[in-house]
Amino acid sequence: MIGSQEMKILMLGLDAAGKTTILYRLKLAEVVTTIPTVGFNVETVEYKNINFTVWDVGGQDKIRRLWRHYFQGTNALIYVVDSSDRDRISDAKEELEKMLQEQEMENAALLVLANKQDLPNAMTPAEVMEALELQKLRHRKWFIQSTVAPTGDGLYEGLDWLSRCLSSHQR
Ligand code: GTP
Ligand code: MG
Repeated sequence: MIGSQEMKILMLGLDAAGKTTILYRLKLAEVVTTIPTVGFNVETVEYKNINFTVWDVGGQDKIRRLWRHYFQGTNALIYVVDSSDRDRISDAKEELEKMLQEQEMENAALLVLANKQDLPNAMTPAEVMEALELQKLRHRKWFIQSTVAPTGDGLYEGLDWLSRCLSSHQR
């Protein structure tokens, strides 16, 4: 495994945002039927000489308080947003804000996936960016990517950014 790098990725977001769909799309390159995650799924995805160990933790209200138990050693956070869920975008913002304040997340890069772009009423990535106030972030590497989890659209563009981020980090 000479030359390959390990990266711990934590994938969080409100329930039904599409995290588990994304994880198995990346791992198996196919669409799986998901049920709400109680606890977590973890898979290793190899891409561009990087081993991404992706932790997908359930996003239901009662489970969110457990998120912090997964923070340690996180290189990057993938924050998945259901772009069609306008009613809960402010909840999504609050949860993200809380996490980024945690000391263990201080150096983690942030990849926001504006998911469910196939739905007719979806917010654009620019709208999601504004709603999450990403432009206010300081001292943090972040990127927003639009995705459609079941088809895989946008997922590898997101991983591309993460792999570039990690390489520059290690130099
Ligand atoms: P929790 O485990 O409860 O935190 O949810 P989750 O974030 O893992 O969501 P999950 O992957 O289970 O997806 C929830 C539902 O949204 C499923 O029915 C998915 O098929 C659907 N879904 C996920 N991504 C997309 C997308 O890009 N477009 C559409 N139309 N549906 C999606
Ligand atoms: Mg899930």
